[in-house]
Amino acid sequence: MIDNSSTSDIFPESLLDVAALRADTPGCGRVVHFNNAGCGLPATPVLAAMIDHLNLEAQIGGYEASAARAEEVRGFYTEIAALINCGPGNIAFASSATHAYTTALSAIPFESGDVILTTRNDFISNQIAFLSLGKRFGVRVVHAPDAPEGGVDVAAMAALMREHRPRLVAATHIPTNSGLVQPVAEIGRHCRELDLLYLVDACQSVGQYPVDVAEIGCDLLTSTCRKFLRGPRGSGFLYVSDRVLREGYEPLFIDMYGARWVEPDRYRPVDSAARFEDWEFPYAAVLGCAAAARYARQVGVAAIARRSPLLAARLRDRLAAVPGVRVLDRGPRLGAIVTFAIDGWQPQPFKAAMDARGVNSALSFREFAQFDFGDKDVEWCLRLSPHYYNTEEEVDEVAAAVADLSGADGHARRREGDR
Ligand SMILES: Cc1ncc(COP(=O)(O)O)c(C=O)c1O
Repeated sequence: MIDNSSTSDIFPESLLDVAALRADTPGCGRVVHFNNAGCGLPATPVLAAMIDHLNLEAQIGGYEASAARAEEVRGFYTEIAALINCGPGNIAFASSATHAYTTALSAIPFESGDVILTTRNDFISNQIAFLSLGKRFGVRVVHAPDAPEGGVDVAAMAALMREHRPRLVAATHIPTNSGLVQPVAEIGRHCRELDLLYLVDACQSVGQYPVDVAEIGCDLLTSTCRKFLRGPRGSGFLYVSDRVLREGYEPLFIDMYGARWVEPDRYRPVDSAARFEDWEFPYAAVLGCAAAARYARQVGVAAIARRSPLLAARLRDRLAAVPGVRVLDRGPRLGAIVTFAIDGWQPQPFKAAMDARGVNSALSFREFAQFDFGDKDVEWCLRLSPHYYNTEEEVDEVAAAVADLSGADGHARRREGDR
């Protein structure tokens, strides 16, 4: 149980100045934003970097503006590299986490009978992509079982690695549909031991936790910049290890930026992760991402990683005490995503009722999480995802809104349903 009195010890003033961080976040004055797992509220420097570039494009021309800001554009690679502990040449910009993920998958020469070993909590679009590879190339998808306390059973997953020698091991660090944090570094140790190609979806963890590709031991890692990193929409990145670059992996549809057309019948991929990029960039977004990564590092990712999950834990505690509410997050380690089911409501009206109270939230449906929601026997849930710039008071306000809806409208609706 988290109580108010303990928070001042956990967050000494010197660690995070929440008031200053909120003053730096224009959206804080308008909404109670508990949808950071959807899209974080950008901080002022992120907004300024983008607006400044859009203005420059309008004034001098788009190509001329990117040339004039070449040094700042390079800052995207150095900032993201510093954030996840690799070199700038290991980073490719992508328009979304899914774009990064499918571009990475397209570089793997799958053959019929190859196995992709993944978890029951991997992201919906990744699961669909694996099935699609199955349809086209005869790839088999094997799901590692979960441990009784929730989250993947790493020992069982390692046994499956030895049994199947998968062409690819894929794990989502934090699923979209629950607060679970998967032990991606433990999985990575087994992959390194067995020399297996390892792809990590860090879409919900970048900006929420320290993400260190060396520690995780992954070959490929994908993320968006818009969620806990608080960058712009339409932006993300792909990390490509030196080993993968050296071994010549390249995306199926490599373009004139990723390769040189050296002879009429031959192209040569570039050496760096730029091999995975397109020629065209939304430069304002690229600069916004650089600013967001710089901002996260200035705030301090370790401090963020302490505060955001604690706000979520406080919210879970409050919600667990509300009659008719079932908190769904399970696992040995939980992050800043809180999910719950509520009796007596349909999904859209419930979210609309939260919207009407000025609380931003998101719905998750069984379709997003066939295994997880099947196990939990829920058709839908509300997802609340606070971040470090949210306050303890907001957490209590949100929990009170849910309690109010559960008590008043929920009970009335249940009674009507009984009749
Ligand atoms: C875990 C996870 N992976 C991937 C994605 C896809 O990200 P994008 O919408 O940027 O493609 C999401 C989006 O919610 C996610 O939560």
